[in-house]
Amino acid sequence: MRTQVGIVGAGPAGLMLSHLLHLRGIASVVLEHRSREDIEATIRAGVLEQGTVDLLKEIGAGERMEREGFRHKGIFLRFDERDHRIDFPALTGGKAIMVYAQHEVIKDLVKARLDSGGDIRFEVKEVSVYDLDTSAPKVRFRSKEDEVHEIACDFIAGCDGTQGICRPSIPAGVLTVYERIYPFGWFGILCNAPPSSDELIYALHERGFALVSTRSPEIQRMYFQCDPTDKVEKWPDERIWEEFRARLATAGGWAPKEGPIFHKTIIGMRSFVVEPMQYGRLFLAGDAAHVVPPTGAKGLNLAAADVRVLAAAIGEFYAAGRTGLLEQYSATALRRIWKAQRFSWWMTSMLHRFPGGDMFQYRVQLAELDYVTGSRAAATALAENYVGLPFDE
Ligand code: FAD
Ligand code: PHB
Repeated sequence: MRTQVGIVGAGPAGLMLSHLLHLRGIASVVLEHRSREDIEATIRAGVLEQGTVDLLKEIGAGERMEREGFRHKGIFLRFDERDHRIDFPALTGGKAIMVYAQHEVIKDLVKARLDSGGDIRFEVKEVSVYDLDTSAPKVRFRSKEDEVHEIACDFIAGCDGTQGICRPSIPAGVLTVYERIYPFGWFGILCNAPPSSDELIYALHERGFALVSTRSPEIQRMYFQCDPTDKVEKWPDERIWEEFRARLATAGGWAPKEGPIFHKTIIGMRSFVVEPMQYGRLFLAGDAAHVVPPTGAKGLNLAAADVRVLAAAIGEFYAAGRTGLLEQYSATALRRIWKAQRFSWWMTSMLHRFPGGDMFQYRVQLAELDYVTGSRAAATALAENYVGLPFDE
């Protein structure tokens, strides 16, 4: 078997790349070890930057998002029991964000691929990549039907997330790893209730961080900072609501709208980058190369930004026979990635209580929030990062 680009992983990065290549007339095969049902049901991120929204629309996968997603023009920062709004369009020349669940994006991308004859192999096993430093790298896998296949490619895209096989297939000594593990996690819930707020609320309280997000008029997504080694079994619904009520309380008596909780999960928090994002003809994109803590809502958006750069580089190779953009891929992508890392680290540091952190640190965090919400310059810095920096930055 042969294709132009072998793509490992049908997450946002792999699916978007496959579709962007298709639109440039470039063939690809996507290999995914989970089932279609599974990838279309996994609960993850929810915030799309303006640029991600525009990209989904441009590639013809944005129709349902435009109908069912929620355009948010701001967020609230809540501290000292009061809300302070950051107005995105006013601070960024009209930009906003879209709240639309990642698994809905996945459904739309899978449909877009399959409707245009795309080749996605679900439930494959034992995926391996080799001959990476030659002009004919290969992907080998065992199909759902239990047959072993080999695909000769011109390029391989490692879009297989943090636990994938592509990054570990790069020989030792090539990659430099930059990492920071945070001493807290997020306890995330989904519940059946009406929205508690028209816009997301990021709250800092003495007991720690809390976030109010949404999924639909009937389903709400909320998080609170927890011990990363905590267990969901220790958190019956009433204890969770008690924690949200305490951390989100305002002087005006605000309380979240409560309802039955049908999903509970604990997410670890880390910052991680590998450099370079290339070895021979293997290119890493998305979580395979970098992870951000979710406080800046950047994970999915960075994956989209990477493959936008990669698709243009591969496109230039086939259209003009030039490798310049491919050689620049890692450096180009990393500039945006490091800015998103900085923003995610900054939001995380400003909004969480650090175990062992004293009251001095907490007072400085409150002063920073007061400054960010009181200064137009500082609020603009938050807003332009949150809605997404321009692509030609
Ligand atoms: P992924 O979405 O991880 O896709 C990788 C794909 O590759 C998966 O479908 C996987 O099954 C497949 N794969 C892996 N290994 C193999 C293999 N060996 N063979 C074949 N296929 C393979 N970001 C936020 O901004 N906010 C959030 O609230 C948030 N919550 C998250 C919760 C969880 C549990 C996780 C894991 C991530 C979360 N993120 C969040 C981050 C965000 O979801 C990711 O940044 C985004 O999914 C990255 O997309 P990706 O395509 O690079 O990787
Ligand atoms: C979400 O809705 O899942 C969400 C929103 C904002 C974040 C992270 C996650 O910063």
